[in-house]
Formats: sequence, structure tokens, C-alpha cells
Amino acid sequence: MSVAETSEAPIWDVEQSRRKGCKRWSTYAPGVLDLGVAEMDVSLSPAVTAAVRDAARTEAFGYPVPDARSAVPDATARWMGRLGLDVGSEGVRVVPDVMRGIAVAIRRLTRPDTAVVIPTPTYTRFLEVAPLTGRRCVQVPLVTGPHGPELDLEHIEGALAAGAGSVLLCNPVNPVGTIVRDEQLAALAEIVDRHGARVIVDEVHAPIRYGHPFTPYAALNEAAREHAITVTSATKAWNFPGLRTAMVVLTNVRDREVWDGLRHLETSGASPLGMVATAAALDHGEPWLRSVLKDLGAARDLVRDRMDAAGLSGLWRTPDATYFAWLDLRGLDPERPAAVLLERSGVAVGEGAGYGAAGGGFVRVNFATPPHVLGKALERIIGVLHLRDTRE
Ligand SMILES: Cc1ncc(COP(=O)(O)O)c(C=O)c1O
Repeated sequence: MSVAETSEAPIWDVEQSRRKGCKRWSTYAPGVLDLGVAEMDVSLSPAVTAAVRDAARTEAFGYPVPDARSAVPDATARWMGRLGLDVGSEGVRVVPDVMRGIAVAIRRLTRPDTAVVIPTPTYTRFLEVAPLTGRRCVQVPLVTGPHGPELDLEHIEGALAAGAGSVLLCNPVNPVGTIVRDEQLAALAEIVDRHGARVIVDEVHAPIRYGHPFTPYAALNEAAREHAITVTSATKAWNFPGLRTAMVVLTNVRDREVWDGLRHLETSGASPLGMVATAAALDHGEPWLRSVLKDLGAARDLVRDRMDAAGLSGLWRTPDATYFAWLDLRGLDPERPAAVLLERSGVAVGEGAGYGAAGGGFVRVNFATPPHVLGKALERIIGVLHLRDTRE
């Protein structure tokens, strides 16, 4: 088997990331530490690189095979099965990226012209996708519950009662790093079912967890299975977003019929390289992922230790999933703390307001970088919070 996983340990290296010439580490001046773009500074899974090399060697640069003849649906069905969702490969559709899957789901699988309810803070592009499909977004901020940030089910229900046709949920939640608890998911399913609405759930961060359990939304119960549209990909956890392949998992037979009736242009664009990389990651990439998760866990501990040592532990909550630290920097600047940090410390992070109105005054720090880079960035951020200019 040419895509066999080896025991090769992941290598964390910013210089290698720079050599790629991709967005991360190419956007800012050389002295700036870019902890904004959601990619990891890590060597890829040997299974993925072997598969892509094989594909390049055979010049697999033609149009991709139809979904059903690619290895992606089977690999996805097996992977979803391991996560806890029983779905056959016949329920899996390939798209070029997660956001396309979501856009098509909104446009074609929700009631025409209905608003989209979006719990926030959430992935920035969610706030772009609904307007691009001609729909209105209703942002419903997360609330703080006994276990951390939670869905505000009362306000979500209010929006559905007022006519919204879907809830666009990110779980695990980028940027806050929580996993929505099963009780909340079940309550959401009950509400959505009662209003005849849909849940479009983006589970792309599900593999990046620190030992915390996760239930795919569609696996919750029969109602959720019927009204869920699950969108996911291997590109986030296995770190190859430029290869353009994602999957829509349809657990409702009517949705499959609608999807299969769509014009080719609406869903096409996945690349043959992304498809082989995806199948290799899902089928053979778990040993690599386990090693990466160990390293990410250590990075998460480093953030915690530095924040604790600086007396700033109240500014964040240790994430259960994702490689993001979501810091409350309202004390630094209630609107644009990331811009202030960039200016004063030369560290680029995600501006919280981009993740929805509820994110204003927060920043998202990507900690998937080597420890010495993360340590230096934290030193600079903490220096600014302690009112020192930390530019070098
Ligand atoms: C929750 C979430 N969904 C989707 C994406 C983007 O995925 P894609 O490039 O496949 O559209 C990201 C990227 O960071 C993300 O965090």
C-alpha cells in the first residue's frame, strides 16, 4: 500500500511554512508573528503526502471522477462511523470546500427566502455565506452557562418562531473552542423539529479535541438525523486546506434527491489531489493526528501556564477542542484589540468582531505553531496587556 502511515513524528517548523508561500506567514512583514490564519505549522501526515505524491507521479490532474467512484464517500462513511454517525457512502457528497457545501445547503435545502440563525461568535465566513445566498442572518450570541459558553436556546427558538428556516451551527465552536453538550444539542433538535427548520452543522474541527467526547449532530436522534445537513472535511485536522475537498453528509433521503438534481456547477470544484489526500487522511492518518493532538495539547498547556503566570487566567477558558485560544481583551480595546496588538506587539491574531457582534473585544490566537514561536508571541501579547511596547 503506497499510502501506509509511518511512525514519522510531526515536525513543527515555521520556516517550512514560510517556504510554502501560502497565506500563512506570507501576509505580514517578516518580524510579525502570524497567529491568525487557521493552519498548523506542522509537516503533513506521511499518508497524505504519499497519496498526493502518487497522484502527482501519475499526473492525476484531470477532472475528478464522479463522487461515487472516488474513495472519498467510503472513507468518509467509515470515519463518520468512528465518530459515531452511522451513514453509508451513499449519503456522502463531495464539494470543493466546506463553505460551498454550506452555501448550497442554505440555498437548496432550507425553506426559500428564510433567514439563517447563527450562534455567535462563530467562524467569520458564516456571516458572509448567508447574505451571499440572499438570506438574512440572525445572530444569536452564546451565553455563559455552568460549563462555559452555551447555545441560547430561548433566542434561537424565538428566531425560528419568527420565521427563520435554519440554524447554522459550528461544532466544535470556532473560535471559542467549546463542544456543544449533548443535552443542548438534543434541546436544539427538539426546537428545530417543532418549527420544521433545518440544522446545517459544520463539524470540521471535530477531530481536534483534547480527550473530550463529541457527538455528531445527526447521530443524536431520529429528528436530528432527518433535519441535519452535516458539512465536514479532512483539510482542517490534516492541514491541507489548499487542496480543496470537503464533504456534505446527507442523512435524509430527500436531501440526496435534491442534491443529485443540482446543476454540476453548483457543487463541482473539488480537486483530484484533494480527494486522494482526503481518503488517505481519513483511512490512514489517525496515528499522525494522535501525535499532532499531543503536541497541540502541550501548546494549549503553554498558553494556560503563561496566562496563569501573568495573572491573566481570567481572560480565557481552556478550549476543549480546536487549536484556538479565545482571549477577552476588552480591557485593552473594546472594539479592535487585535489591531492594537498587531500595532504594539507585532503579533497578528483574529479580530473578535469578525466572528460576530458578540466577539467584539476578543481575539482568536492560533496556537498550532512551534513552542518557541508561541512562547515569544505570548510574551509579546502579555507585555502589551501589562502595558509594555513589545515590538522588537
Ligand atoms: C469552522 C470552519 N468551517 C469552515 C472553514 C473553512 O473551510 P473551507 O476552506 O473548506 O471552506 C474553516 C476554516 O478555518 C472553519 O474553521
